[in-house]
Amino acid sequence: MIGIPLMVKGKAIGVIGLFCPKSVEAGRIQQERLDFLTTIASQVAIAIDNVKLYQDLEQKVTELRRLQGQLIQTEKLSAIGELVSGVAHEINNPLTSVVGFTQLLLETTENPRDREFLEKIFSEAMSCSEIIRNLLTFARRHPAEKSYNNINDIIRKALELKRYQLETDGVEIIENLSDSIPPIWVDPHQMQQVFFNIIHNAHQALLEKKKLSTSPLRLTIASESRNGLVSISFHDTGQGILPDVLPKVFEPFFTTKEVGVGTGLGLSISYGIVKEHGGEILIENLFGEGVTFIVTFPINGQGRDRRVAEGAKGGSYAGRRILIVDDSNAALEMCTYILRSEGFRVEGVESGRAALERLRSEDYDLILTDLGIADMPGLAFHDALLKEYPVMAEKILFLAEERINPEARRLLEERKVEILYRPFGMTALKEAVYRSLITSLKA
Ligand SMILES: Nc1ncnc2c1ncn2[C@@H]1O[C@H](COP(=O)(O)OP(=O)(O)OP(=O)(O)O)[C@@H](O)[C@H]1O
Ligand SMILES: [Mg+2]
Repeated sequence: MIGIPLMVKGKAIGVIGLFCPKSVEAGRIQQERLDFLTTIASQVAIAIDNVKLYQDLEQKVTELRRLQGQLIQTEKLSAIGELVSGVAHEINNPLTSVVGFTQLLLETTENPRDREFLEKIFSEAMSCSEIIRNLLTFARRHPAEKSYNNINDIIRKALELKRYQLETDGVEIIENLSDSIPPIWVDPHQMQQVFFNIIHNAHQALLEKKKLSTSPLRLTIASESRNGLVSISFHDTGQGILPDVLPKVFEPFFTTKEVGVGTGLGLSISYGIVKEHGGEILIENLFGEGVTFIVTFPINGQGRDRRVAEGAKGGSYAGRRILIVDDSNAALEMCTYILRSEGFRVEGVESGRAALERLRSEDYDLILTDLGIADMPGLAFHDALLKEYPVMAEKILFLAEERINPEARRLLEERKVEILYRPFGMTALKEAVYRSLITSLKA
């Protein structure tokens, strides 16, 4: 046998082996035959090289197309982000009022039928505000605002938003929450969003199941801590996830739901949040029988700011004076109602200037204002307080939009003032006011 190398640009890329008669092997091959074979070999080598080049080129074109697609997708996403955050912003304010006024009516309404309707309005409005929160989180990722929290309380809050609907749809809810979980260093709003998204998915899956069979609809939520990890599991007895769908569920905008039912953002947002907290989301899928979502976090970050958790309990705050700076903002109007019903002495002024005027002669325990008051927007009002009434500059609670730009948010947070982001419910408002009062009474 003789071998003829396949040469391209001075490099051998292979060899052609020829079985030859014995005479040739003995070294008596004619030169012209050898030249002929070498010419064929070089043509073959060029052809092979061309195929390789073509394959490389094809691969590069595919890669280029993928990158281009990604770029278009990113641009599309950022355009969608702009759009949704604009719309969400417009909906946020009225929604805050709907939630707040409904809660107020719930406190005073005795008639069971009216209460039932009000509870429905409340839970639907809260579902809307969770959707808005999802959209805002998607549009602009905020850094987490972490503090020590009781994870069970967060689970319960998320569940409360869906309890009415779940029970109305005949879903049995089983809560197995462990009492021995230490406080966890998380952003409570973001975490509530994660739990809400998972519970919301479970509810939708159970509704689908209900159409197909009469088997019991059950949602089991459990929490436990073990080996330095806290884990929260959500098991539903829905249909489970189709095996070919499973790898895609965390992708943004991936949904198997009809238009108007799902946007495909819930799990992708939840995944981002959980990752940012150093945790994981695991799925145990029993297709046909249901699915379990398990969220785990490390228990870490000991000894940080426990002031709020401990301080909120003691002390009587009824009768404390609160000044609300309100340039006809419905959300602030609602705050006035709620805080008065808590026993605070609430007074209102209509502008930043009027507030400064009032402070000349009056003393307050807290000022509650919006970041957007017309005559002194943004930090201008706070600057004026710092200059004229520095003590009051520490006794302030700002209401702000979730979507304020990151730079404004940073500046605001640098001042170490209390901020309540919209949309908020009555409980969040009360908590923020008590928290601010604890700080302000120490000041
Ligand atoms: N508990 C569940 N049971 C069955 N399928 C689920 C469950 N949770 C999620 N999925 C599947 O994962 C997909 C993605 O979920 P995700 O929450 O990200 O979006 P979505 O629920 O479709 O829309 P959105 O959450 O934005 O309203 C769902 O469309 C569904 O197919
Ligand atoms: Mg969802």
